[in-house]
Amino acid sequence: MMLYQKSDSSEEIMNMNMEYEQRKTFRKDRCSRQTGMNVILGVCVIVFMMTFVIFLHQQRKFSMLESWMNSHSSNLTSVKPDLQKAEVQEKSKVETLMTNLASSLSSIMSKQEESLQKLERQDASHTEMKNLMVGLSSAVSALTSKLNEAVGNQDQKQTETKKLLDSLSSSVTSLLSDQQNKQHNFESLSSSLRDVKSSVSDLTSSFSSLSSQLSVTMQNVSQTDVKSLMNSLSSAVSALTAQLNDAVKKQDQKQSETERSLESLKSSLQTDQQNKQHNFESLSSSLRDLKSSVSDLTSSVASLSSQLSVMLQQDVKSLMNSLNFTVSALTSTLNDAVKKQDQKQTETERSLDTLKSSVQSDQQNKQRDLESLKSSISDLKSSVSDLTSSVASLSSKQQTSEERVMNALKEMITNMCTKTTDVSVAKCKPGWILYKSSCFLFSSDELNWTEARDYCKAQDALLLKIQEDDKEWAFLNNHTIPTSYWVGLTDQTTGQWRWVDDTPYIMNKERWNPGQPDDWKAHGLGEEGEDCAQITYSGKLNDNHCSVKMKFICRVQF
Ligand SMILES: *[C@@H]1O[C@H](CO)[C@@H](O)[C@H](O)[C@H]1NC(C)=O
Ligand SMILES: *[C@@H]1O[C@H](CO)[C@@H](O)[C@H](O)[C@H]1NC(C)=O
Ligand SMILES: *[C@@H]1O[C@H](CO)[C@@H](O)[C@H](O)[C@H]1NC(C)=O
Ligand SMILES: *[C@@H]1O[C@H](CO)[C@@H](O)[C@H](O)[C@H]1NC(C)=O
Ligand SMILES: *[C@@H]1O[C@H](CO)[C@@H](O)[C@H](O)[C@H]1NC(C)=O
Repeated sequence: MMLYQKSDSSEEIMNMNMEYEQRKTFRKDRCSRQTGMNVILGVCVIVFMMTFVIFLHQQRKFSMLESWMNSHSSNLTSVKPDLQKAEVQEKSKVETLMTNLASSLSSIMSKQEESLQKLERQDASHTEMKNLMVGLSSAVSALTSKLNEAVGNQDQKQTETKKLLDSLSSSVTSLLSDQQNKQHNFESLSSSLRDVKSSVSDLTSSFSSLSSQLSVTMQNVSQTDVKSLMNSLSSAVSALTAQLNDAVKKQDQKQSETERSLESLKSSLQTDQQNKQHNFESLSSSLRDLKSSVSDLTSSVASLSSQLSVMLQQDVKSLMNSLNFTVSALTSTLNDAVKKQDQKQTETERSLDTLKSSVQSDQQNKQRDLESLKSSISDLKSSVSDLTSSVASLSSKQQTSEERVMNALKEMITNMCTKTTDVSVAKCKPGWILYKSSCFLFSSDELNWTEARDYCKAQDALLLKIQEDDKEWAFLNNHTIPTSYWVGLTDQTTGQWRWVDDTPYIMNKERWNPGQPDDWKAHGLGEEGEDCAQITYSGKLNDNHCSVKMKFICRVQF
């Protein structure tokens, strides 16, 4: 229309054009504002979806972790409560992290909703929206990085916990198998002790049958034969005794080894150690009982052999009875030891449960100890069963003929004698000399009498106590002449001559130098006379001043 009115005034047309231009600009402005709004809305929706997806992912992870934790919770209950606590802490940490995240997410969501409302109202200016968007995007990126970090932390923690649990379960299974081994060892040990016990009771019964048969047959055996046989029997029994002593020594050694390894465990196992030490002490005391009953056996056999030289048949019978009694005492002591061992086994099993986490290396040492203990006990067992079987064969043979009895006795004695020589090699400490059933130390150091006595005592020996045995006296002279040695004889305390173990000395003037002891006082060494005894260079006894330093003789008797 405006074009058709060209002929009208150009001013009017110009005005109309201007109006048209103004309207066009106004429309263009509105268009661009709506597009900006749509972009902002799109961005918001994308951000919201991203956040939602991340939140879903996090929740899934958390539920996976929870189910994994549940699957391990049964195993966890069996391990130390410390670890359980640690895990609970870990769990609660993760949970608080998750709740923080959830709350920050919800705050972000509420912020978004606010901004959406703002946009819908279209009140906010362009710049305000721009600022809002920038803030929103920075908040979202901070949130994203926080979420990533949290996810990373969580994964790390999860793998750490997994590793910890794996190592725990493997150590628990190895401990279980170790414990089973130990139990097995203890069972075999106690069964072998039971074997020893039964073979000792066999021995007892064979001895009693032997003694009853001897009382019948002794009439036909010449006295000298019996005497020599009894002597041999006594040496055979002393060989058995020595073997038992060895076993006891091994046991003692083992005890001290175990005590040492227990020492290394001290820090973590103090209460357990006290129990163990107590057990071992009772074991060693029962072994000491065993030792003493064995030495009783020896002494009763020795007295048997010495009294046989003036023997009557009734005496043999009664001596056999006392032998029988000693053997049964030995049996009961072994029974006690077995019982104590059984008790100890159950106690050890209980304490093993508390030991679980720290005992693995120590247990290997213990197992070695137990095995050597077991082998020494089986040695003992076999030697006792040898003795039993030889006594049994002896008694069966006796029933048919007296000659066979004598042969069997001789056979048994040679058996025992070879055993004795085998055992003897290890009996004396290096530097000590074996004679009969004693070890002698002829010292090279020179000490005064008191120091010499104390030295021997520290070696579990006695300063020499001399027996009324001419062969032993010859043996001593063979080693002393031409040197002087202190012996364990003094009248220092009582005025009467006594041995160091406080037994009385019966004067035998033949063994003293002529005119000795004389308690000579002109030696210039002190006010008192001569109160301590020596073997002089000539192989005779003499009293001397106790402060003189000279060589000395220690003795250990089995
Ligand atoms: C839990 O311990 C049992 C045996 O005690 C084992 O078979 C199982 O695999 C363990 N579970 C895990 C998750 O380690
Ligand atoms: C040996 O001792 C047991 C019990 O101590 C006794 O029953 C048995 O009769 C004794 N045997 C002999 C031969 O004395
Ligand atoms: C053993 O002695 C008894 C009587 O003392 C006698 O009757 C018996 O014949 C003797 N036996 C032998 C094998 O000498
Ligand atoms: C003492 O020595 C002599 C000769 O060296 C020897 O024949 C004798 O058997 C020895 N006696 C003892 C008891 O050792
Ligand atoms: C032996 O020697 C020790 C240490 O030198 C001393 O204390 C002690 O009195 C001495 N004994 C005698 C009896 O002289």
